[in-house]
Amino acid sequence: MTDKPAQRTAPELFTWEFATDPYPAYAWLREHSPVHRTTLPSGVEAWLVTRYADAKQALADQRLSKNPAHHDEPAHAKGKTGIPGERKAELMTHLLNIDPPDHTRLRRLVSKAFTPRRVAEFAPRVQELTDQLIDRFATEGEADLIHDFAFPLPIYAICDLLGVPREDQDDFRDWAGMMIRHGGGPRGGVARSVKKMRGYLAELIHRKRNDPGDDLISGLIRASDHGEHLTENEAAAMAFILLFAGFETTVNLIGNGTYALLTHPEQRERLQRSLAPGADEPGLLETGIEELLRYDGPVELATWRFATEPLTVGGQDIAAGDPVLVVLAAADRDPARFDEPDTLDLSRRDNQHLGYGHGIHYCLGAPLARLEGQTALATLLTRLPDLRLAGDPADLRWRGGLIMRGLRTLPVEFTP
Ligand code: HEM
Repeated sequence: MTDKPAQRTAPELFTWEFATDPYPAYAWLREHSPVHRTTLPSGVEAWLVTRYADAKQALADQRLSKNPAHHDEPAHAKGKTGIPGERKAELMTHLLNIDPPDHTRLRRLVSKAFTPRRVAEFAPRVQELTDQLIDRFATEGEADLIHDFAFPLPIYAICDLLGVPREDQDDFRDWAGMMIRHGGGPRGGVARSVKKMRGYLAELIHRKRNDPGDDLISGLIRASDHGEHLTENEAAAMAFILLFAGFETTVNLIGNGTYALLTHPEQRERLQRSLAPGADEPGLLETGIEELLRYDGPVELATWRFATEPLTVGGQDIAAGDPVLVVLAAADRDPARFDEPDTLDLSRRDNQHLGYGHGIHYCLGAPLARLEGQTALATLLTRLPDLRLAGDPADLRWRGGLIMRGLRTLPVEFTP
C-alpha cells in the first residue's frame, strides 16, 4: 500500500464532506496554512486560526475585539453576513459582543448570581429531568437521541434555573427548536422566535422584580457590585445569552459525546465499567467528558473577533477591521499540544483543551455544562446498557452551521 500523495492546495472548506468530518482539513491547515484566509459561506472574508498556541494567544488578545462595530465590512454586505451583532437588537448587547470595561462590569454582576454553588445545588433537578426524559422512550427500544433527549434536556434545565414556570417551558422548547433548525437558514421564523423569547423574558423580569424568588433571574436582578445593578434591558440580554449560549452547545455535547462513545466501543465499555459500584477507575466520567469536549466538541469555531489595529498572529499579519475566527476544533487536535490527538482516551491527563474558550470570555456556563454532560451520559449508559447506533453511521447528517458542530439526528436502539 502506498501513502496518499500530500495534498498541495488548501482543501475545500464548508462542503458537505467537511461538515461530516472537518478534522483532515484542519490537519492540513495546521500544517500548511495555520492562519488561513478564507471566504465564508456568507461571503465574508475571515482568518481561521488553527494551531493550539496561536488559538490560545488569539483568544486572550484584547486587540481582537468582540464588538462587531470593529468589522471593516464592505457597504454592499451590510446586514447580510450573519455576524450576530449586526442586528442591533438590545438583546445583542451581551457578554459575547462586548469588550472591557463593559464586559468586566457585566461579567462581574452575572457571576454573583450564576455561581458554581447555584449549579451544584441544581444537580438533583438535572438528574430528575434526565430520568424523566429517558422514561419517555425507555420502553420503546429505539429513540432519536437528539430529538428525544439531547435537545429537550438543556432547554428545560436552563428554563428551570432561570425561573421560567414549568407551564411555559414548552414554548421555549418550540422557540429554541426553531432557532436550532434554522440557525443558518431562513430568517423569518427565527426572528419571530427571538422576538417572542425576548418579549417573554422582558415580562418575566418585570414580574420577578416585584415578586422575586430564589431563581437565577431574581438573582440577576438582585446582583449588585459597588452599588451597581443590571438594568432591566441588561438582565433580559443576560437571560437571553444564558439560554442561547447554554442551549445548542449542551445539545451537541450530549449528541457528539454519545456518538463518539457508541463508535469507540472499548472506551464506552471502560466508562460503563467505571460507573458501576466499586469501580476500579473512579473519576473516568469527569476526565471523559473533558476528553469528549476536546475530541469532538460542540463549539467548532469560537465566536467572532475583529482586529482593532494591525497585528500578527502566528507570524501572519492581520489588518485592522479583519474578522478572526479561532478554530477550537483544530486547536484541540494539534499534535504539538496533545499526544495522539486523533485518539479518544477518556482518561487523558494534561487535557487543557480550548472547548470552553480561554481568557476573559471563557465559558461562564462550564460548571452547568459539565453537570449536564456528566449526568446525561452516565444515566444513559447505566439505564440503557446495550445502547447502540441504529443504522449506518455514514448516513448521519451533521448541521452545517459555522460556529457549532452537531448532529441533526442520532437514531439508537436498545433492549427496552
Ligand atoms: C462562552 C463553550 C455551555 C454560557 C463560551 C465560549 C465557549 C463556550 C467556547 C467562548 C466563546 C468565545 O470566546 O468566542 C461552551 C460549551 C458548552 C457551553 C462547549 C457546553 C458543553 C454553556 C452553558 C451556559 C453557557 C450551559 C449557560 C447556561 C456562556 C456564556 C458565555 C460563554 C454566557 C460568554 C462568556 C463571556 O463572554 O464572558 N462558551 N459553552 N455556556 N458560554 Fe458557554
